[in-house]
Amino acid sequence: MGIRYDESSKIFHLQSLDTSYVIQIVEGGYPAHVYWGRRVRGTRLERMLELTTRVSFSPSTDPDRLEISLDTLPHEYPAYGNSDFRSPAYQAQLPNGTTVTDLRYESHEIHKGKPALAGLPSVYIESEDEAETLELTLKDAVSGLTVVLAYTVFEQQNAITRSAKLINNGTATLQLLRALSMSLDFAHDRYDLLQLSGTWGRERHIHRRTLVPGMQSVESRRGSSSHVQNPFIALLGEGADEDHGEVYGVNLVYSGSFFAGVEVDPYHDARLQIGINPFDFGWRLEPGEQFQTPEAVLVHSSEGLGGMSRTYHDLYRTRLIRGQFRDKSRPILINNWEATYFEFTADKIEAIAKAGQALGLELFVLDDGWFGKRDNDTTSLGDWFVDRRKLPNGLEDLVDRVRRLDMQFGLWFEPEMVSPESELYRAHPDWCLHVEGHRRTVARGQLILDLSRADVRDYIVESVSNILASAPITYVKWDMNRNMTEIGSALLPAERQRETAHRYMLGVYEVMERITSAFPHILFESCSGGGGRFDPGMLYYMPQTWTSDNTDAVSRLKIQYGTSLVYPISSMGSHVSAVPNHQVGRITPLETRGNIALSGNFGYELDLTKFSEEDNETVKAQIALYKEVRHLVQFGDFYRLKSPFEGNDTAWMFVSKDKAEALVVYASVLKEPNPQLSRFRLKGLDPAREYTLLASGEAYGGDELLYTGIPMPHFHGDYESKVYRFQAVK
Ligand code: DGJ
Repeated sequence: MGIRYDESSKIFHLQSLDTSYVIQIVEGGYPAHVYWGRRVRGTRLERMLELTTRVSFSPSTDPDRLEISLDTLPHEYPAYGNSDFRSPAYQAQLPNGTTVTDLRYESHEIHKGKPALAGLPSVYIESEDEAETLELTLKDAVSGLTVVLAYTVFEQQNAITRSAKLINNGTATLQLLRALSMSLDFAHDRYDLLQLSGTWGRERHIHRRTLVPGMQSVESRRGSSSHVQNPFIALLGEGADEDHGEVYGVNLVYSGSFFAGVEVDPYHDARLQIGINPFDFGWRLEPGEQFQTPEAVLVHSSEGLGGMSRTYHDLYRTRLIRGQFRDKSRPILINNWEATYFEFTADKIEAIAKAGQALGLELFVLDDGWFGKRDNDTTSLGDWFVDRRKLPNGLEDLVDRVRRLDMQFGLWFEPEMVSPESELYRAHPDWCLHVEGHRRTVARGQLILDLSRADVRDYIVESVSNILASAPITYVKWDMNRNMTEIGSALLPAERQRETAHRYMLGVYEVMERITSAFPHILFESCSGGGGRFDPGMLYYMPQTWTSDNTDAVSRLKIQYGTSLVYPISSMGSHVSAVPNHQVGRITPLETRGNIALSGNFGYELDLTKFSEEDNETVKAQIALYKEVRHLVQFGDFYRLKSPFEGNDTAWMFVSKDKAEALVVYASVLKEPNPQLSRFRLKGLDPAREYTLLASGEAYGGDELLYTGIPMPHFHGDYESKVYRFQAVK
């Protein structure tokens, strides 16, 4: 396992537990993509690459060997302009204005471990033995552009990370127009493309389509990964589904504008790519300078989407998420946003916290509206000082009142923004992203601070840190509520303006690194109007994300199911809210709201002081249940059983790593009259063990639960749900 290089065939074989990835340096020094898929022993890899002569419209680089054509060769990092007509991985403009480059193999290095990416989030290792890295250096002889392709294979997980470093080793300035993180060519196009798409309030819905000739892609031009598209796509082989077949996932560890696409060429090869969106991107590389692309995480599964998800979950939970909360149970919280919005007093907050404490909640989170003069969403972002009209005795007093209830205290911020109606904006009108002469478009009454500037970054770090140091705060919700317009920076010269959006992201990452490392005892949750920035870049700094502003239990079935394709359950914030639901007006039973919310990082977001005695009893039981199962939910293996995208019912389950415990959640949207009698099968259990259904004490064989299943629950009414707990008999 690891990485092997065979000098005679010039083949690199990257091998993990179940996966192989093969690269061959072919005639001319071009790195060809030979194979990615189920693990092969690799004894006769040299005959895997099949080349054939095509028409003259796919020209050959060697007139005597017409089968050698860059337009038909499967590439690892294809160029533009020298006879591959497909989508390039990069493009650089030379001082003479032309954009033709030709990268050829120069050298390579194979070493243990995995270097971190300078200034960017990335998957990490804890010991050098966990992973092996190949650095493949390619060079364009004319311009001096050098590209180092980095591949890390995680030996015990079926994951490979890829990134590229573009270095100007020439003597003149180069202008990068495109610099994707990875590209590879599949030898056929018999795949479906799966993507996670949506908008505010319905993030990460699953869409699947068959590949057709041409480019099919998803992208964000919003300056953030966005609610609309997620920086993830997967190719599903013939017949692949939740439990079977070959699936290839690529996920970009980046929170800004991205591109992810598959291009099917005339010969039915499929080129898969992901990276920073080349649209409106530019980067000036002076001689000696280098540009590091974000990292792409490639996961192959031969056990369908479920296998792919469990690989991503384990990798991200243990080697992307950092800090002391990585392995710690996350607290059950009560957040005041949907309870009070901007209208609250210290007494009201204390009353909600007190009600929460009586029910067993562990953390109170004070959301938006505690600073400046923020009575609505048109003012005060940037003015990070306490509003004494609402909290006359200051934040410390409120934190103290909550902590005396034996609850932790958390606080909301939106540090990347500024309201035009704020002291900060009046003092520094040029601190926001803007372009002279153009309108500064406001969205939700706010502008975006220019985090490409060091002075702005220092201001954010200082003002947020002052508040965090002023009281014993143990949780922060870091919000971000708009997308970028008029993208320009007052400090960058004309020739670097197209770097602004990426420099902003590097700035966000720097600020997050400084604040999270200065306050390691604080649990950070990122948020962007719900799940507008639910991506691995954010998870590197903040172990959890607010999944969606839509808290309706029925809407959440699809949102959480879709999100679970890539992101671990411990990263998904999930709360019970009031009915009628504030986003969609639906009335669902409290039991169901609880069952769906406890399938994530559990919490409540409503006015607990308005609960009836009966509600209180239901909630107490939900909280007690979550305390018993949270290790399973947050750290167990996740299996999807029934998809909300395919029918009326949804089911999923959590199984402990030792297969001794399981929690099943089953939900039905509309009640059907006289339904068919049916059963559903569980997954992930040990067929040889006996399990007890805790509610009834009945015994079941693991094989019985896996192969014959259990009867579908009988519901009376819409939006009903049920949980089952199984415990292995010792
Ligand atoms: C958007 C978030 O997603 C909500 O949960 C809430 O924090 C509001 N912002 C506050 O303005």
